[in-house]
Amino acid sequence: MIDKPVKRVRTRHFQNAKNEGIKITGLTSYDMLTAEIFDAAGIDFLLVGDSAGNNVMGYDTTLPVTVDELIPLTRAVARATQRAFVIADMPFGSYETSPDEALHTAFRFMKETQAHAVKLEGGVRSAEQIRRIVSAGIPVMAHIGFTPQSEHGLGGHLIQGRAPQLAQLLADAHAVEDAGAFAVVLEMVTSDAAAQVTKELRIPTIGVGAGPHVDGQLLVWTDWAGLSTGRIPKFVKQYADLKGVLTQAVTSYRADVDAGTYPGPEHSYDV
Ligand code: KIV
Repeated sequence: MIDKPVKRVRTRHFQNAKNEGIKITGLTSYDMLTAEIFDAAGIDFLLVGDSAGNNVMGYDTTLPVTVDELIPLTRAVARATQRAFVIADMPFGSYETSPDEALHTAFRFMKETQAHAVKLEGGVRSAEQIRRIVSAGIPVMAHIGFTPQSEHGLGGHLIQGRAPQLAQLLADAHAVEDAGAFAVVLEMVTSDAAAQVTKELRIPTIGVGAGPHVDGQLLVWTDWAGLSTGRIPKFVKQYADLKGVLTQAVTSYRADVDAGTYPGPEHSYDV
């Protein structure tokens, strides 16, 4: 964790952390209540990911998510934090066409949500977009390796960075650093490849399923807390069983209402 007394985590703290060998910790968040809890616990950055598509909006993938859907979630998270650095995820179809389109989307997030940075997917192919956004004074977190918005192009949820793709991964990593990204997410990349990228880059690497030899870690909070349904990737460590806790609570509530034991006198108003 970046030194806790920091008032508000900023991009320079990410760089200092890498330089000093301090690990950076991030989670996704899509709402005010989790943002408050994670912020108070000292999580360094909160990503309002387009994974909201699978975790909030009920889509099968992140592809249908729009800027208009992410803006209110990002605003809620930004308003709920005091210390954490809040990053808005640019959804599929909101930046690929041109650097101008990317800057326009980044402006919307910065003006309408008060996030502190944006994230977008792609290495070499997104370098010009990153350069343009950074030149307007907006920090960019890059995202390479497995990029969920290109799930169909990549042929599914496949581990990246093995021998034939290593050269592309390194080229992507250098391209986003050269374009001015302040950090780069490495998703579902072999530990060895992630270690090599981390060694070669000056900027911090943030792993999501990229093993231990990176500068920081990021997890989707609903996976991490045991709330997600469906397949949980191997790299996720579940730190709680929220689904179990809520299932037990709702079962007790329903039983109490059925039995007439809720509400009791302590939950009722007198004259
Ligand atoms: O949207 C998201 O949650 C992400 C992370 C998995 C990197 O992009």
